[in-house]
Amino acid sequence: MRRYHVTTFGCQMNAHDSERIKGMLEELGLGESSSPDEADVLVFNTCTIREKPDTRLAAHLGNAKMLKERDPERVIAVGGCYAEAQRERIFGQYPFVDVAFGPGSISHLGDWLGAGGAGVARSSFGIAEERSFAAALPMHRERSFQAWVQVSMGCNSKCAYCIVPAVRGREVSRRPGEIVAEVTRLAAEGVMELTLLGQNVNSWGRDLRPDLDTEFGELLRACDAVEGIERIRFTSPHPKDFREPVIAAIADCASVCEHVHLPLQSGSTRILKAMRRTYSRERYLALVERLRDGIPDLALGTDIIVGFPGETENDFRETLEVVEAVRYDSAFTFVYSPRQGTEAASLPNQVPDEVKRERIERLVELVQRIARERNAARVGGVEEVLVEGVSRTDDARLRGRTRRNTTVHFSGDAAPGELVAVEIESATSTTLGGRRAALVAA
Ligand code: SAH
Ligand code: SF4
Ligand code: F3S
Repeated sequence: MRRYHVTTFGCQMNAHDSERIKGMLEELGLGESSSPDEADVLVFNTCTIREKPDTRLAAHLGNAKMLKERDPERVIAVGGCYAEAQRERIFGQYPFVDVAFGPGSISHLGDWLGAGGAGVARSSFGIAEERSFAAALPMHRERSFQAWVQVSMGCNSKCAYCIVPAVRGREVSRRPGEIVAEVTRLAAEGVMELTLLGQNVNSWGRDLRPDLDTEFGELLRACDAVEGIERIRFTSPHPKDFREPVIAAIADCASVCEHVHLPLQSGSTRILKAMRRTYSRERYLALVERLRDGIPDLALGTDIIVGFPGETENDFRETLEVVEAVRYDSAFTFVYSPRQGTEAASLPNQVPDEVKRERIERLVELVQRIARERNAARVGGVEEVLVEGVSRTDDARLRGRTRRNTTVHFSGDAAPGELVAVEIESATSTTLGGRRAALVAA
């Protein structure tokens, strides 16, 4: 049997795309190989959001080149956002690559690999021409009880630093009937936890008008009504599109988790404006207040960029102030990375690397202190945990996540996919520790 290996970089959308890539390869009769070394078909599903994934890809492709020299029949395919951004240039950079495809052309992959082996460079790009949703393609899911569901593709925002609109195209929403049908099918297969995915998930539905008058809150309610779905998450919402009906739906729907990832990017209104985020510091803080008022025990996460062009020490302090004011449960922090072709890459006043490094260190320290305090406040309580497997650091313990999306390591017996109550005994900035409680969580 011929075997494949897929290496995935980037966000949850890309991880979900990889499930489709794997599903298609399996439909062609290939089996999964646990390492690239033994695989006949090597696929790299790439990301180009920052420079780091580009560099990591180069290292992986160096290894793939060696494998191909050993066995020239091996097929090397590069897909995803980096491939789309580089287009045909990829064959000049990496001449041993056989197939290159953009995120909108995943469905072609099967045709090429089914048709033949290595030797001919083939490519398919273009986000406008042919884009298809997950539902039409076979899917290989990692866990039987969790699933990603794509609700839209592309992004209509123009964030000055971001490459995503250039590589994923304009926003197209999937029809609600199609989404609910997929959710119903997943629930029948045993899925308990859904994560709804969109680059700007809460602007879902806007492009369906005037044909269909709907919005994201309505979609949350429709998914919540599906029998068997215990937990619903969604990512990433844009603060500018967070309207009352969505807040009400989170509060009303038992299965929608009390966790919102709300990218801040910067706490300085001046920088937010330069970033084209279309909200001010005050509007963001007012939204946080409405969310906390409307949704009891809400956990908040965020993304923050330091060192955007023109960011002064004062702007950066404003970011620290917002972090202090909101008190996030978790935060992803990034050093600004210029992306070719984006508006911000050609702005004057790029911030020197050492200043960026110094700022991110201060930010990480603050984010971690607050997250540690937030988690410590959970000690002594009982959390409902969805068991995911054995702890990665201690195989005598189990691992799972709370509704508020915190990872818990705990002792006691349970099977993956079970919902159990865990007494919380300890906390770090990113995890909780505890033991399985006798009673089922309320
Ligand atoms: N569609 C999602 C995810 C965007 S990418 C959203 O809008 O939230 C995830 C995060 O990467 C962004 O929120 C941003 O914080 C960060 N990011 C994007 N482009 C970046 C760049 N050029 N440099 C540094 N961080 C970046
Ligand atoms: Fe990028 Fe902004 Fe769209 Fe998110 S909302 S994908 S940060 S352009
Ligand atoms: Fe995701 Fe990276 Fe593309 S973050 S959308 S895989 S550029």
